[in-house]
Amino acid sequence: MPAPKGEGTLITTVMNNEIKIFCPATIANISCGFDVLGVALDSVGDEMVLRKTKEKGIRITKIEGQDLPLETDKNVAGASGLAFLDACSYDGGFEIEIYKNIKAGSGIGSSAASSAGAVWAMNELLNKPFSIHELVPFAMQGERLASGVAHADNVAPALFGGFTLVRSYDPLDVIPIPSPDALYATVIHPQIEIKTSDSRKILKTNISLENGIKQWGNVGGLVAGLFKNDYDLIGRSLEDHIIEPIRSILIPGFDDVKSAAINTGALGCGISGSGPSIFAFSKGENIAKKVAQAMKEVYENIEVDYEIHISKINTEGIREMAP
Ligand code: HSE
Repeated sequence: MPAPKGEGTLITTVMNNEIKIFCPATIANISCGFDVLGVALDSVGDEMVLRKTKEKGIRITKIEGQDLPLETDKNVAGASGLAFLDACSYDGGFEIEIYKNIKAGSGIGSSAASSAGAVWAMNELLNKPFSIHELVPFAMQGERLASGVAHADNVAPALFGGFTLVRSYDPLDVIPIPSPDALYATVIHPQIEIKTSDSRKILKTNISLENGIKQWGNVGGLVAGLFKNDYDLIGRSLEDHIIEPIRSILIPGFDDVKSAAINTGALGCGISGSGPSIFAFSKGENIAKKVAQAMKEVYENIEVDYEIHISKINTEGIREMAP
């Protein structure tokens, strides 16, 4: 006898109360695109665990790996999470555990990983009330707390994966950009801390028309190179005539690392975010490894400790991990 309509087709919605996630490190600016371009890395990142609670609000219950504030309004994950909660109709709250691998003040998006991770995970736990585009402004509130400016060039690639362009901040218009398969990043992180807020204070607020022309030519060239899988064009476009000459002075051995990377075959090399990390892009993992060795040789003669990461581009952004 056929089952009466509706029987045997019981649909249940299983909502998880807890989620563990990987939050990628990111390279912002990418030489020519100060505050507008960014890309997510695959092999470096934080982990977070978020849990729904009946109690309203956000509690940060554990932070490992870095000495960061547990108070919700002083922590970037708390600040972005509160912006998310304010905008949705959820009646409960969240607990957050943060396991940091990305050091604060490293220039590879430490605050962005926590800010974007918090809102991405909350959105998952509530069955995605918001699109990824809609999550970006919430995550930007964490960046506002960290650096005084709500820039999106780290949180956008952390959320979307791959490369992103912030075409406009007002209104916010974030464009995900494809990444060529063989593109690898090598990042050397000198173990000194440069606060983004400090490295923004030293920048000039006016630029010459001559430098503007060079810079927007390169932004267009880089975006075109990424769409066309044109590695040479990507390399030619990795120039920064405005920010690098000022900020590179804060980074020990910057010029030597850059020359060594390019002489070894890197497509280009520049400051990662607000530094002190230095990134190079290469075509293929082999060259990326040789570039790592060349960067290492420069730093052997400098009395500053360092870490080196080699990573392919992360194209999916923040992802769920097995519990
Ligand atoms: N665009 C920001 C800056 C990125 O360079 O200040 C900070 O990681």
